[in-house]
Amino acid sequence: MAIARTPVGIVGGGPAGLILCHLLRLRGIESVVLEARSRQYIEQRVRAGVLEQGTVGLLSDAGLGARMQREGLQHRGIHLRFGGVSHPIDFAALTGKSVTVYGQQEVVRDLVAAALSAGTRIEFEVTAVVLDQLSSTQPLIRYRDQRGEPQQLQCDFIAGCDGFHGICRAAIPAAALRYYEREYPFGWLGILAHAPPLADELIYTHHERGFALFSMRSPQIARHYLQCPPDENLAEWPDERIWQELERRLEGADSLVLPRGDIFQKGVTPMRSFVTEPMQYGRLFLAGDAAHIVPPTGAKGMNLAASDVRSLALALAEFYDSGSMRRLERYSESCLRRIWQAQRFSWWMTSMLHRFEHHGEFDRRVQLAELDYVTGSRVASAALAENYVGLPYQD
Ligand code: FAD
Ligand code: DHB
Repeated sequence: MAIARTPVGIVGGGPAGLILCHLLRLRGIESVVLEARSRQYIEQRVRAGVLEQGTVGLLSDAGLGARMQREGLQHRGIHLRFGGVSHPIDFAALTGKSVTVYGQQEVVRDLVAAALSAGTRIEFEVTAVVLDQLSSTQPLIRYRDQRGEPQQLQCDFIAGCDGFHGICRAAIPAAALRYYEREYPFGWLGILAHAPPLADELIYTHHERGFALFSMRSPQIARHYLQCPPDENLAEWPDERIWQELERRLEGADSLVLPRGDIFQKGVTPMRSFVTEPMQYGRLFLAGDAAHIVPPTGAKGMNLAASDVRSLALALAEFYDSGSMRRLERYSESCLRRIWQAQRFSWWMTSMLHRFEHHGEFDRRVQLAELDYVTGSRVASAALAENYVGLPYQD
C-alpha cells in the first residue's frame, strides 16, 4: 500500500475542518480533509444559525463573504421574553456590534465549493479512520477510502476536527486528558418551516411550560425550538402539536401571532457542556466539537469551532514560516481561555431561560429576578450583549 503525504491531515469536514483547510490554503500550506459522510449529507445537515461578528469577519477576510453578505440576515439584537412580555437587548447600541443569521450548512457549502475549485483534496465517505504515531514528527492516518481501499496518509500534523462523536479525542491516552462535563435534563426540538419569521429579531422565551426560541433562516423560512425531554420521541410531535406548543409558550398581553407553515425538518438535540483539556497530544491538535460542546442557548458552538481553527492556522503558519513551535505549544491554553468564557455564557443563558423540573418556587422567582435584572439594567444587558456578539480574539 502506498503512503501518501500531506503537511496537515484534517479529520472531519465540518466547519472546523473546512475553515482550517481554507485558512491554511491562503497561507500556502497544503492539507487533505477526510470526511466520513457524503458531500450532499454535510451540505444539508441542519445545525447552527448565528455567526458572531468576529466569525463573519474571519470568513469575509478569507474571501468567503460574498454569498453570506447577500443572503445572511444581520441582527442588531435579540429579545428576551418572560411573563408574556418581550424585552429588547440592543447589541448595536450596547456594543456597536451585530450578529448574522446564516445557516451552518450554507457556510459548509461555501467552504466545500472554495476547496474543490482550488483543487484541495477532500475525501468523502471515508471509513475505519485510525490515528497512529501521534508522538512522532510524522503521525499517520490510516483509513479506507470511498471504494473501501485501505489508505495511509503521513502528516507533519493532524487536526482532529471530527466532532463530539469522532475518533480523534479517543485516540489520545486517557491519562493525558482531563474532561469537564455537565449534562442538562432536557434537549431542544428544532424545526424548519416554510413560514415567515415571527419577528425581525430572535426571541428567547422563558415560560413555565419550558423554553422556546423563535429564529429564522430567511424571510420565507422560520427556525423554531422547544425545550423537551433529552430523549424525546419525534413521532409524538405531529406538526399540529408543535405549532400549538410554540403558541402556548408565546402567549402574552401583546398577543403575538406566530405565522404557521409547512414543517420540512424536525430534530431533537440533547444538551451538554463538555471541555477537554489539553486540546493537544503530540502532533494531534483537537478543534471544535471534538474538544468541547456548549449547550446551544448562547449560539456559540460553530463560532468556537471557527476561533479554534483561526488560532491553529496562525500557529501552523508560524511553524511553516520559521520552524518555531511556540504558538503551537500555546494553542490549547490560548483556545481554552475563550472556550471557558463561552462555556460560562452558554451555561448561564441555559440556566436563566429553561425550566428545571427540580426547581421549587424559590428557584423560579430567582430566575425571573435575573431576567428582570438583565433586561432592566443597561450594565447587565451590555454584559449579555458583549458575550453574544463574541468576545474579541486575544491574538
Ligand atoms: P461537526 O460539525 O460535528 O463536524 C465534524 C465532522 O466530522 C462531521 O462532518 C462528521 O461527519 C465528521 N466525522 C465524524 N467522525 C469522523 C471520522 N471518524 N472520520 C472522518 N470524519 C468524521 N453553534 C453556533 O455557533 N451557533 C448556533 O446558533 C448553534 N446552534 C445549534 C443548533 C443545533 C440544533 C445544534 C445541533 C448545534 C448548534 N450549534 C450552534 C453548534 C454547532 O453546530 C457545532 O458546534 C458545530 O457543528 C461544530 O463544528 P465542528 O466542525 O467542530 O464539528
Ligand atoms: C439558532 C440556534 C441557536 O442555538 C441560537 O441560540 C439561536 C439561533 C438558530 O438555529 O437559528
